[in-house]
Amino acid sequence: MPTNRKPLPLIARPPVDLRRRFLLRAGVGLAGLPWLPGCGSGSDASSGGAGEPQGCAVPTAAAAPRGLHASFTGDPVSTRTLSWFTDGLDDPGTFVEYGPVPPDMSGQQIACEPFPARAGGQAQQTHGVDALTHAATMVGLQPGLPVRYRVGAPGAWSDVRVLPAAPQGAFRFCHFGDHGRNEASLAVLDGVQAVQPDFFIIAGDLSYANGDHPAWDDWFNRLDPCASRIPMLSAPGNHEEEDNGGAAYKNRVSQPGLGYRYSFDYGNVHFVFSTGGSLVGRNIAQDADLIAELAWMERTLAQASQRRASGEIDFIVLVQHYTIWTDQEGREPANASLVLLEEGKLLRYGVDLALVGHDHIYQRSVPMGRNRPREDGYIQVAGGAGGSSLRGFGSISEWSATEAIRYCFTEYLVDGPRLTAVTWAVDREDNSLAGGELTEIDRFEIQARDSTARRLFALEPQPDLGAEETGKVLAHTRLRNALHHRSEPL
Ligand SMILES: [Fe+2]
Ligand SMILES: [Fe+2]
Repeated sequence: MPTNRKPLPLIARPPVDLRRRFLLRAGVGLAGLPWLPGCGSGSDASSGGAGEPQGCAVPTAAAAPRGLHASFTGDPVSTRTLSWFTDGLDDPGTFVEYGPVPPDMSGQQIACEPFPARAGGQAQQTHGVDALTHAATMVGLQPGLPVRYRVGAPGAWSDVRVLPAAPQGAFRFCHFGDHGRNEASLAVLDGVQAVQPDFFIIAGDLSYANGDHPAWDDWFNRLDPCASRIPMLSAPGNHEEEDNGGAAYKNRVSQPGLGYRYSFDYGNVHFVFSTGGSLVGRNIAQDADLIAELAWMERTLAQASQRRASGEIDFIVLVQHYTIWTDQEGREPANASLVLLEEGKLLRYGVDLALVGHDHIYQRSVPMGRNRPREDGYIQVAGGAGGSSLRGFGSISEWSATEAIRYCFTEYLVDGPRLTAVTWAVDREDNSLAGGELTEIDRFEIQARDSTARRLFALEPQPDLGAEETGKVLAHTRLRNALHHRSEPL
């Protein structure tokens, strides 16, 4: 099948002002926000980032919003949804106040001017703890202008934060998986903040709370300085299953559609976020949901392939926790039924990228399929080295383009029909943390599929699974998940 994709080899570069050079070379402007608050280890959730104006809204201790994180549940250009938590079961109110940030607005005005808009939201009890999960959505955001906002209720507002405007053309996002709650996890957040993407993706295994709900609170508190200023989207991993099929995860994040499997267009890319079966385990409802999800994925990818053929979008990107193929030592897909089924869909509809986690390594493939290089296949980026821990490699497959045992994240720039990716390590070669210095450890570029390939991949969805196939997929998925629960480190 014809293709014009050209993965590039690794290019070694010195870690000097890489971000700025990457942006300038890509033609993306550096005009940023009025301030650049810190993420991760460099700041604290309660006071905002360095240089952020203070003093106009002091949260009260009892009902102070905490664990604030941004996402979108509707139009990625004109809306943003904020989620946060308050201690106790008395609802102080759920509001977001917001307004645009014109270029001439000072830091003092950003923090202290009255807000021109307010939206109400909803609160529900946080799963497993005496707290409330709040969510409210800002609508009608002006293209090209950052938005300033605060959340909470009268007498208990957060401090003021700023989210960047959604770009109109080229955009950037970051991806990593397997985050955790340690110094490396914070270093990865610092790295994401340093490259200032338009949003970032965590491909599962977020907090490693494993049913310990205060640990979820701790993770969101650490995430807050970054995710309240850069929207975050995620897919659930096997460690999210620990809360009775992902109950805590589903309660705490606000995302499109069902929240744990969903799809959306961002610019010229259609993103499909899948559970990859990771929530199957102790909750019987998730069994039926996996079968429904496979049917949903079939329809969603078929529709996306047809839209790509008509020129509506240029790329299709799948995000899930589980790798399709992996060279991590001691790991293998371990779930032939689901891998064959899912990968069949990726190959049938010409998915361009599969962004995954789970294996605590960094490994990027050439275009592949069925465990071997395949010119018209998908590129898998296994980014499970996002902080939690690192593992080693076994024998390296023919499809592998780059392997690294480094704490890292990947930045993707989508500029029309060209997608460029750079993977940044936040550590040194001995895995000691690099104190904010980023080192490029991988780089590749793909061109959108040409019109002939797009037409060939534009197919009608296939029928749903029969009972026999359904039984096999569920049995293998339960077995895989049980094995991974026992073997995966924190
Ligand atoms: Fe993990
Ligand atoms: Fe995992």
